[in-house]
Amino acid sequence: MKCVDDFRLHLGDKSLVPLVIGGMGVDISTPALALTAVRLGGIGHLSDAMMMDTAERYFGKPFSRDKLRANRGTLNQSDKSPIHFDLGAITEATRLHVRHAMESKRGEGLLFINCMEKLTMNAPRNTLQVRLTAALDAGIDGITLAAGLNHSSFHLISEHPRFRSAMLGIIVSSVRALQIFIRRNVKLNRLPDYIVVEGPLAGGHLGFGMDWAQYDLLTIHDEVQAYLKREDLSIPVVVAGGIFTGSDAVRFLERGAAGVQVATRFTIAQECGLPDAAKQAYLNATQNDIEVNQLSPTGYPMRMLRQTPAVNQGVRPNCELYGYILENGKCEYVTAYEQALADANSRDKLSVKDKICLCTHMRNYDVWTCGHNAWRLKETARPNDDGSYALPSAEHIFLDYQFSKNQQIRLP
Ligand SMILES: Cc1cc2nc3c(=O)[nH]c(=O)nc-3n(C[C@H](O)[C@H](O)[C@H](O)COP(=O)(O)O)c2cc1C
Repeated sequence: MKCVDDFRLHLGDKSLVPLVIGGMGVDISTPALALTAVRLGGIGHLSDAMMMDTAERYFGKPFSRDKLRANRGTLNQSDKSPIHFDLGAITEATRLHVRHAMESKRGEGLLFINCMEKLTMNAPRNTLQVRLTAALDAGIDGITLAAGLNHSSFHLISEHPRFRSAMLGIIVSSVRALQIFIRRNVKLNRLPDYIVVEGPLAGGHLGFGMDWAQYDLLTIHDEVQAYLKREDLSIPVVVAGGIFTGSDAVRFLERGAAGVQVATRFTIAQECGLPDAAKQAYLNATQNDIEVNQLSPTGYPMRMLRQTPAVNQGVRPNCELYGYILENGKCEYVTAYEQALADANSRDKLSVKDKICLCTHMRNYDVWTCGHNAWRLKETARPNDDGSYALPSAEHIFLDYQFSKNQQIRLP
Protein backbone atom coordinates (compact mmCIF):
# COMPACT_ATOMS: atom_id res chain seq x y z
CA MET A 1 0.00 0.00 0.00
CA LYS A 2 1.46 3.33 -1.09
CA CYS A 3 1.26 6.76 0.50
CA VAL A 4 1.27 10.23 -1.06
CA ASP A 5 4.98 10.55 -0.34
CA ASP A 6 5.69 7.75 -2.84
CA PHE A 7 4.73 10.20 -5.62
CA ARG A 8 6.10 13.53 -6.82
CA LEU A 9 4.53 16.42 -8.67
CA HIS A 10 6.90 17.72 -11.35
CA LEU A 11 6.34 21.37 -12.18
CA GLY A 12 9.00 23.24 -14.12
CA ASP A 13 12.30 22.25 -12.53
CA LYS A 14 10.65 21.37 -9.20
CA SER A 15 9.92 17.97 -7.76
CA LEU A 16 7.21 18.55 -5.15
CA VAL A 17 5.19 16.65 -2.60
CA PRO A 18 2.00 16.25 -4.68
CA LEU A 19 -0.19 18.11 -2.16
CA VAL A 20 -1.71 21.48 -2.88
CA ILE A 21 -3.64 23.47 -0.30
CA GLY A 22 -6.31 25.19 -2.38
CA GLY A 23 -7.02 28.91 -2.26
CA MET A 24 -9.73 29.81 0.24
CA GLY A 25 -11.04 33.33 0.09
CA VAL A 26 -11.31 35.67 1.89
CA ASP A 27 -7.99 35.08 3.61
CA ILE A 28 -9.17 31.73 4.97
CA SER A 29 -6.03 30.37 3.35
CA THR A 30 -3.82 32.82 5.22
CA PRO A 31 -0.15 33.28 4.36
CA ALA A 32 0.69 31.23 7.48
CA LEU A 33 -1.40 28.31 6.20
CA ALA A 34 -0.13 28.51 2.63
CA LEU A 35 3.49 28.88 3.72
CA THR A 36 3.26 25.69 5.78
CA ALA A 37 2.61 23.72 2.59
CA VAL A 38 5.50 25.52 0.92
CA ARG A 39 7.85 24.77 3.82
CA LEU A 40 6.93 21.09 3.69
CA GLY A 41 7.63 20.86 -0.03
CA GLY A 42 4.12 21.15 -1.47
CA ILE A 43 2.12 24.05 -2.87
CA GLY A 44 0.18 26.63 -0.87
CA HIS A 45 -2.23 29.24 -2.14
CA LEU A 46 -2.98 32.79 -1.11
CA SER A 47 -6.35 34.10 -2.20
CA ASP A 48 -6.73 37.43 -3.96
CA ALA A 49 -10.44 37.69 -3.12
CA MET A 50 -11.19 41.09 -1.54
CA MET A 51 -7.50 41.84 -1.55
CA MET A 52 -7.96 45.51 -0.66
CA ASP A 53 -9.64 44.50 2.55
CA THR A 54 -7.12 41.78 3.36
CA ALA A 55 -4.22 44.17 2.79
CA GLU A 56 -5.96 46.81 4.90
CA ARG A 57 -6.08 44.38 7.81
CA TYR A 58 -2.51 43.16 7.44
CA PHE A 59 -0.78 46.40 6.58
CA GLY A 60 -3.02 49.08 8.09
CA LYS A 61 -3.42 51.01 4.83
CA PRO A 62 -7.03 52.22 4.39
CA PHE A 63 -7.63 50.74 0.93
CA SER A 64 -11.30 49.87 1.49
CA ARG A 65 -12.07 52.98 3.52
CA ASP A 66 -10.63 55.15 0.74
CA LYS A 67 -12.82 53.31 -1.74
CA LEU A 68 -15.88 54.00 0.37
CA ARG A 69 -15.00 57.70 0.53
CA ALA A 70 -14.63 57.88 -3.25
CA ASN A 71 -17.91 56.09 -3.92
CA ARG A 72 -20.29 57.56 -1.33
CA GLY A 73 -22.54 58.92 -4.08
CA THR A 74 -24.33 55.62 -4.63
CA LEU A 75 -25.03 54.81 -0.97
CA ASN A 76 -28.75 55.50 -1.32
CA GLN A 77 -29.32 54.31 -4.85
CA SER A 78 -29.82 50.89 -6.32
CA ASP A 79 -27.85 51.61 -9.48
CA LYS A 80 -24.29 50.92 -8.43
CA SER A 81 -22.77 51.44 -11.88
CA PRO A 82 -20.74 54.55 -10.91
CA ILE A 83 -18.80 52.52 -8.32
CA HIS A 84 -15.21 51.97 -9.31
CA PHE A 85 -12.08 50.45 -7.86
CA ASP A 86 -8.88 52.46 -7.88
CA LEU A 87 -6.61 50.31 -10.05
CA GLY A 88 -3.52 51.78 -8.41
CA ALA A 89 -4.83 50.76 -5.00
CA ILE A 90 -5.54 47.19 -6.16
CA THR A 91 -1.99 47.01 -7.47
CA GLU A 92 -0.51 48.33 -4.25
CA ALA A 93 -2.61 46.04 -2.02
CA THR A 94 -1.80 42.95 -4.10
CA ARG A 95 1.89 43.71 -4.31
CA LEU A 96 2.11 44.32 -0.56
CA HIS A 97 0.37 41.08 0.35
CA VAL A 98 2.15 38.88 -2.18
CA ARG A 99 5.58 40.38 -1.65
CA HIS A 100 5.33 40.03 2.10
CA ALA A 101 4.32 36.37 1.81
CA MET A 102 7.03 35.65 -0.77
CA GLU A 103 9.64 37.20 1.52
CA SER A 104 8.51 34.89 4.32
CA LYS A 105 8.81 31.79 2.15
CA ARG A 106 10.98 28.95 3.45
CA GLY A 107 11.48 25.47 2.02
CA GLU A 108 11.34 23.95 -1.41
CA GLY A 109 7.64 24.26 -2.19
CA LEU A 110 5.81 26.87 -4.27
CA LEU A 111 3.49 29.71 -3.32
CA PHE A 112 0.59 30.37 -5.69
CA ILE A 113 -2.35 32.74 -5.64
CA ASN A 114 -5.96 31.87 -6.46
CA CYS A 115 -7.61 34.46 -8.73
CA MET A 116 -11.34 34.17 -9.30
CA GLU A 117 -12.59 35.63 -12.57
CA LYS A 118 -16.08 35.89 -11.12
CA LEU A 119 -14.94 38.77 -8.92
CA THR A 120 -16.09 41.17 -11.58
CA MET A 121 -15.55 44.36 -9.54
CA ASN A 122 -17.70 46.49 -11.88
CA ALA A 123 -14.91 46.46 -14.49
CA PRO A 124 -14.07 42.79 -15.08
CA ARG A 125 -11.28 43.14 -17.62
CA ASN A 126 -9.36 46.01 -16.11
CA THR A 127 -9.52 44.82 -12.55
CA LEU A 128 -8.57 41.23 -13.39
CA GLN A 129 -5.67 42.45 -15.48
CA VAL A 130 -4.40 44.56 -12.61
CA ARG A 131 -4.83 41.74 -10.08
CA LEU A 132 -2.92 39.22 -12.20
CA THR A 133 -0.23 41.69 -13.19
CA ALA A 134 0.40 42.86 -9.63
CA ALA A 135 0.74 39.28 -8.36
CA LEU A 136 3.31 38.56 -11.08
CA ASP A 137 5.13 41.84 -10.36
CA ALA A 138 5.40 40.85 -6.70
CA GLY A 139 7.07 37.57 -7.63
CA ILE A 140 4.34 35.02 -6.92
CA ASP A 141 5.48 31.56 -8.04
CA GLY A 142 2.22 30.83 -9.80
CA ILE A 143 -1.38 31.84 -10.42
CA THR A 144 -4.34 29.50 -10.36
CA LEU A 145 -7.19 30.92 -12.46
CA ALA A 146 -10.50 30.04 -10.84
CA ALA A 147 -14.26 30.62 -10.76
CA GLY A 148 -14.94 31.23 -14.40
CA LEU A 149 -13.96 30.10 -17.86
CA ASN A 150 -11.08 32.56 -17.88
CA HIS A 151 -11.14 32.80 -21.67
CA SER A 152 -9.23 36.08 -21.79
CA SER A 153 -7.12 35.78 -18.64
CA PHE A 154 -3.91 34.72 -20.39
CA HIS A 155 -4.37 37.49 -22.96
CA LEU A 156 -4.56 40.05 -20.18
CA ILE A 157 -1.04 39.23 -19.02
CA SER A 158 0.54 38.07 -22.28
CA GLU A 159 2.85 41.10 -22.36
CA HIS A 160 4.07 40.59 -18.81
CA PRO A 161 7.78 39.68 -18.60
CA ARG A 162 6.90 36.68 -16.39
CA PHE A 163 4.08 35.39 -18.63
CA ARG A 164 6.16 32.43 -19.82
CA SER A 165 8.22 31.76 -16.71
CA ALA A 166 5.63 31.94 -13.89
CA MET A 167 3.52 28.83 -13.27
CA LEU A 168 0.03 29.44 -14.63
CA GLY A 169 -2.81 26.98 -14.10
CA ILE A 170 -6.56 26.82 -14.34
CA ILE A 171 -9.34 25.15 -12.38
CA VAL A 172 -11.91 23.37 -14.55
CA SER A 173 -14.86 21.15 -13.73
CA SER A 174 -15.31 19.63 -17.19
CA VAL A 175 -13.18 18.57 -20.12
CA ARG A 176 -15.17 20.95 -22.30
CA ALA A 177 -14.14 23.98 -20.24
CA LEU A 178 -10.52 22.88 -20.60
CA GLN A 179 -10.79 22.34 -24.36
CA ILE A 180 -12.17 25.83 -24.88
CA PHE A 181 -9.53 27.38 -22.64
CA ILE A 182 -6.71 25.68 -24.52
CA ARG A 183 -8.18 26.57 -27.91
CA ARG A 184 -8.53 30.21 -26.87
CA ASN A 185 -4.84 30.40 -26.12
CA VAL A 186 -3.47 28.70 -29.23
CA LYS A 187 -2.45 32.04 -30.76
CA LEU A 188 -0.51 32.92 -27.62
CA ASN A 189 1.34 29.62 -27.85
CA ARG A 190 0.92 29.26 -24.10
CA LEU A 191 -0.44 26.16 -22.41
CA PRO A 192 -1.33 26.02 -18.74
CA ASP A 193 1.50 24.55 -16.63
CA TYR A 194 -1.01 22.55 -14.61
CA ILE A 195 -4.72 21.85 -14.60
CA VAL A 196 -6.81 21.53 -11.46
CA VAL A 197 -9.84 19.34 -12.07
CA GLU A 198 -12.33 20.23 -9.35
CA GLY A 199 -15.21 17.83 -8.80
CA PRO A 200 -18.62 18.37 -7.22
CA LEU A 201 -17.62 17.60 -3.61
CA ALA A 202 -15.38 20.67 -3.20
CA GLY A 203 -15.89 23.62 -0.89
CA GLY A 204 -16.65 27.15 -2.00
CA HIS A 205 -18.54 27.76 -5.25
CA LEU A 206 -19.13 24.79 -7.52
CA GLY A 207 -18.53 24.65 -11.25
CA PHE A 208 -21.73 22.61 -11.57
CA GLY A 209 -25.44 23.31 -11.43
CA MET A 210 -27.78 22.06 -8.74
CA ASP A 211 -27.46 18.66 -10.45
CA TRP A 212 -23.90 18.46 -9.05
CA ALA A 213 -24.55 15.03 -7.49
CA GLN A 214 -24.73 13.47 -10.95
CA TYR A 215 -21.06 14.16 -11.59
CA ASP A 216 -18.00 12.57 -10.11
CA LEU A 217 -14.38 13.58 -9.95
CA LEU A 218 -12.91 10.30 -11.13
CA THR A 219 -14.91 10.36 -14.38
CA ILE A 220 -14.03 13.98 -15.11
CA HIS A 221 -10.38 13.27 -14.32
CA ASP A 222 -10.36 10.33 -16.74
CA GLU A 223 -12.01 12.42 -19.46
CA VAL A 224 -9.42 15.16 -19.02
CA GLN A 225 -6.54 12.66 -19.15
CA ALA A 226 -8.01 11.05 -22.30
CA TYR A 227 -8.33 14.46 -23.96
CA LEU A 228 -4.74 15.39 -23.11
CA LYS A 229 -3.52 12.07 -24.49
CA ARG A 230 -5.50 12.51 -27.72
CA GLU A 231 -4.01 15.96 -28.17
CA ASP A 232 -0.54 14.75 -27.24
CA LEU A 233 -0.35 17.29 -24.42
CA SER A 234 1.69 16.60 -21.33
CA ILE A 235 0.23 18.80 -18.59
CA PRO A 236 0.10 17.73 -14.92
CA VAL A 237 -3.46 17.21 -13.69
CA VAL A 238 -4.25 17.97 -10.06
CA VAL A 239 -7.58 16.69 -8.72
CA ALA A 240 -9.68 18.45 -6.08
CA GLY A 241 -12.88 17.93 -4.15
CA GLY A 242 -13.66 15.39 -1.44
CA ILE A 243 -10.15 13.98 -0.98
CA PHE A 244 -10.20 13.48 2.76
CA THR A 245 -7.36 11.04 3.49
CA GLY A 246 -3.94 10.23 2.13
CA SER A 247 -5.41 6.98 0.79
CA ASP A 248 -8.10 8.91 -1.12
CA ALA A 249 -5.25 10.88 -2.69
CA VAL A 250 -3.26 7.75 -3.57
CA ARG A 251 -6.26 6.39 -5.46
CA PHE A 252 -6.03 9.37 -7.84
CA LEU A 253 -2.24 9.43 -7.99
CA GLU A 254 -2.19 5.77 -9.01
CA ARG A 255 -4.69 6.57 -11.72
CA GLY A 256 -2.44 9.18 -13.28
CA ALA A 257 -3.17 12.41 -11.43
CA ALA A 258 -0.02 14.41 -10.79
CA GLY A 259 -1.25 15.86 -7.50
CA VAL A 260 -4.23 16.53 -5.28
CA GLN A 261 -5.66 19.84 -4.11
CA VAL A 262 -7.30 19.80 -0.70
CA ALA A 263 -8.90 22.42 1.50
CA THR A 264 -11.62 21.26 3.89
CA ARG A 265 -9.22 19.35 6.15
CA PHE A 266 -7.29 22.62 6.64
CA THR A 267 -10.29 24.75 7.61
CA ILE A 268 -9.80 23.67 11.23
CA ALA A 269 -6.04 24.20 11.24
CA GLN A 270 -4.67 26.62 13.81
CA GLU A 271 -3.25 28.72 10.94
CA CYS A 272 -6.53 28.91 9.00
CA GLY A 273 -8.11 32.38 8.94
CA LEU A 274 -11.58 31.30 10.10
CA PRO A 275 -12.52 32.32 13.66
CA ASP A 276 -12.55 29.59 16.30
CA ALA A 277 -16.37 29.57 16.46
CA ALA A 278 -16.51 28.62 12.79
CA LYS A 279 -13.85 25.93 13.22
CA GLN A 280 -15.77 24.40 16.12
CA ALA A 281 -18.98 24.53 14.05
CA TYR A 282 -17.21 22.63 11.26
CA LEU A 283 -15.99 20.08 13.78
CA ASN A 284 -19.47 19.59 15.21
CA ALA A 285 -21.23 19.39 11.84
CA THR A 286 -23.26 16.35 10.92
CA GLN A 287 -23.83 15.11 7.39
CA ASN A 288 -27.27 16.76 7.36
CA ASP A 289 -25.76 20.15 8.16
CA ILE A 290 -23.94 20.36 4.83
CA GLU A 291 -25.95 21.73 1.93
CA VAL A 292 -25.47 23.10 -1.55
CA ASN A 293 -27.63 26.15 -2.06
CA GLN A 294 -28.10 29.11 -4.38
CA LEU A 295 -27.65 31.87 -1.85
CA SER A 296 -24.50 33.23 -3.47
CA PRO A 297 -25.16 36.28 -5.66
CA THR A 298 -22.53 35.05 -8.13
CA GLY A 299 -25.03 32.64 -9.68
CA TYR A 300 -22.87 29.61 -8.83
CA PRO A 301 -24.16 27.03 -6.33
CA MET A 302 -22.19 27.09 -3.11
CA ARG A 303 -21.70 24.45 -0.40
CA MET A 304 -21.96 25.58 3.19
CA LEU A 305 -23.11 24.62 6.66
CA ARG A 306 -26.80 25.22 7.31
CA GLN A 307 -25.75 27.11 10.46
CA THR A 308 -23.96 29.74 8.35
CA PRO A 309 -24.58 33.03 10.19
CA ALA A 310 -25.03 34.96 6.92
CA VAL A 311 -28.25 33.11 6.04
CA ASN A 312 -31.45 35.17 6.32
CA GLN A 313 -29.61 38.32 7.36
CA GLY A 314 -30.66 41.66 5.94
CA VAL A 315 -27.49 43.74 5.96
CA ARG A 316 -27.51 46.84 3.85
CA PRO A 317 -25.41 46.19 0.72
CA ASN A 318 -21.84 47.34 1.19
CA CYS A 319 -20.93 47.81 -2.48
CA GLU A 320 -19.30 51.18 -1.89
CA LEU A 321 -16.87 49.64 0.59
CA TYR A 322 -16.50 46.24 -1.13
CA GLY A 323 -18.46 45.66 -4.35
CA TYR A 324 -16.43 42.70 -5.62
CA ILE A 325 -19.39 40.96 -7.30
CA LEU A 326 -20.76 44.03 -9.10
CA GLU A 327 -21.30 43.71 -12.82
CA ASN A 328 -22.70 46.67 -14.75
CA GLY A 329 -23.73 48.19 -11.43
CA LYS A 330 -25.72 45.15 -10.36
CA CYS A 331 -25.43 42.39 -7.79
CA GLU A 332 -28.17 39.84 -7.16
CA TYR A 333 -27.99 40.58 -3.44
CA VAL A 334 -28.79 44.27 -4.02
CA THR A 335 -31.88 43.27 -6.02
CA ALA A 336 -32.98 40.76 -3.35
CA TYR A 337 -32.38 43.32 -0.60
CA GLU A 338 -34.52 45.94 -2.30
CA GLN A 339 -37.31 43.46 -2.84
CA ALA A 340 -37.16 42.47 0.84
CA LEU A 341 -37.26 46.16 1.83
CA ALA A 342 -40.32 46.72 -0.33
CA ASP A 343 -42.08 43.69 1.18
CA ALA A 344 -41.05 44.29 4.78
CA ASN A 345 -43.22 45.24 7.66
CA SER A 346 -41.36 48.22 9.16
CA ARG A 347 -41.45 46.74 12.67
CA ASP A 348 -39.69 43.53 11.71
CA LYS A 349 -35.97 43.05 11.45
CA LEU A 350 -35.18 42.91 7.74
CA SER A 351 -34.36 39.44 6.50
CA VAL A 352 -33.25 38.63 2.94
CA LYS A 353 -34.03 35.01 2.21
CA ASP A 354 -32.91 34.42 -1.38
CA LYS A 355 -29.33 35.73 -1.39
CA ILE A 356 -26.53 36.63 0.97
CA CYS A 357 -24.35 39.73 0.87
CA LEU A 358 -21.30 37.70 -0.07
CA CYS A 359 -18.73 40.49 0.31
CA THR A 360 -19.85 41.60 3.76
CA HIS A 361 -20.26 38.11 5.11
CA MET A 362 -17.13 36.59 3.58
CA ARG A 363 -15.23 39.56 4.96
CA ASN A 364 -16.65 38.80 8.41
CA TYR A 365 -16.13 35.02 8.07
CA ASP A 366 -19.87 34.51 8.34
CA VAL A 367 -20.19 32.26 5.29
CA TRP A 368 -19.21 28.82 6.52
CA THR A 369 -18.42 27.22 3.21
CA CYS A 370 -16.94 23.73 3.29
CA GLY A 371 -16.50 20.56 1.29
CA HIS A 372 -18.96 17.67 1.22
CA ASN A 373 -16.89 15.74 3.77
CA ALA A 374 -16.67 18.47 6.40
CA TRP A 375 -18.84 16.38 8.73
CA ARG A 376 -15.89 13.98 9.01
CA LEU A 377 -13.57 16.64 10.44
CA LYS A 378 -14.34 15.40 13.97
CA GLU A 379 -12.37 12.26 13.04
CA THR A 380 -9.28 14.41 12.65
CA ALA A 381 -9.10 16.27 15.99
CA ARG A 382 -9.12 15.38 19.68
CA PRO A 383 -12.01 16.52 21.87
CA ASN A 384 -11.21 18.68 24.90
CA ASP A 385 -12.77 18.07 28.30
CA ASP A 386 -15.20 20.98 27.76
CA GLY A 387 -16.66 19.40 24.62
CA SER A 388 -14.79 21.63 22.16
CA TYR A 389 -12.04 20.25 19.93
CA ALA A 390 -8.29 20.95 20.05
CA LEU A 391 -7.26 22.38 16.70
CA PRO A 392 -4.51 20.58 14.79
CA SER A 393 -1.63 22.45 13.19
CA ALA A 394 -1.46 22.76 9.42
CA GLU A 395 1.80 20.84 9.53
CA HIS A 396 0.11 17.93 11.27
CA ILE A 397 -2.65 17.77 8.65
CA PHE A 398 -0.19 18.07 5.77
CA LEU A 399 2.00 15.28 7.11
CA ASP A 400 -1.03 13.09 7.76
CA TYR A 401 -2.01 13.41 4.09
CA GLN A 402 1.58 12.81 3.03
CA PHE A 403 2.32 9.67 5.02
CA SER A 404 -0.95 8.00 6.05
CA LYS A 405 -1.99 4.62 4.65
CA ASN A 406 -5.02 2.33 4.82
CA GLN A 407 -7.51 5.20 5.19
CA GLN A 408 -6.02 6.00 8.58
CA ILE A 409 -6.06 9.51 10.02
CA ARG A 410 -3.40 10.26 12.61
CA LEU A 411 -4.67 12.32 15.54
CA PRO A 412 -2.49 15.13 16.85
C1 LIG B 1 -13.59 27.36 3.11
C2 LIG B 1 -13.29 27.18 1.66
C3 LIG B 1 -13.13 28.29 0.85
C4 LIG B 1 -12.82 28.13 -0.50
N1 LIG B 1 -12.61 29.25 -1.28
C5 LIG B 1 -12.21 29.11 -2.57
C6 LIG B 1 -11.86 30.25 -3.33
O1 LIG B 1 -11.87 31.38 -2.85
N2 LIG B 1 -11.50 30.05 -4.63
C7 LIG B 1 -11.45 28.79 -5.19
O2 LIG B 1 -11.12 28.66 -6.36
N3 LIG B 1 -11.76 27.70 -4.46
C8 LIG B 1 -12.12 27.82 -3.17
N4 LIG B 1 -12.37 26.70 -2.42
C9 LIG B 1 -12.15 25.37 -3.03
C10 LIG B 1 -10.77 24.80 -2.60
O3 LIG B 1 -9.72 25.61 -3.03
C11 LIG B 1 -10.52 23.36 -3.07
O4 LIG B 1 -10.32 23.25 -4.46
C12 LIG B 1 -11.62 22.36 -2.69
O5 LIG B 1 -12.35 22.74 -1.58
C13 LIG B 1 -10.96 20.99 -2.43
O6 LIG B 1 -11.89 20.07 -1.93
P1 LIG B 1 -11.95 19.68 -0.37
O7 LIG B 1 -12.35 20.91 0.34
O8 LIG B 1 -12.99 18.61 -0.33
O9 LIG B 1 -10.60 19.19 0.04
C14 LIG B 1 -12.71 26.84 -1.07
C15 LIG B 1 -12.88 25.72 -0.23
C16 LIG B 1 -13.18 25.88 1.10
C17 LIG B 1 -13.36 24.65 1.96
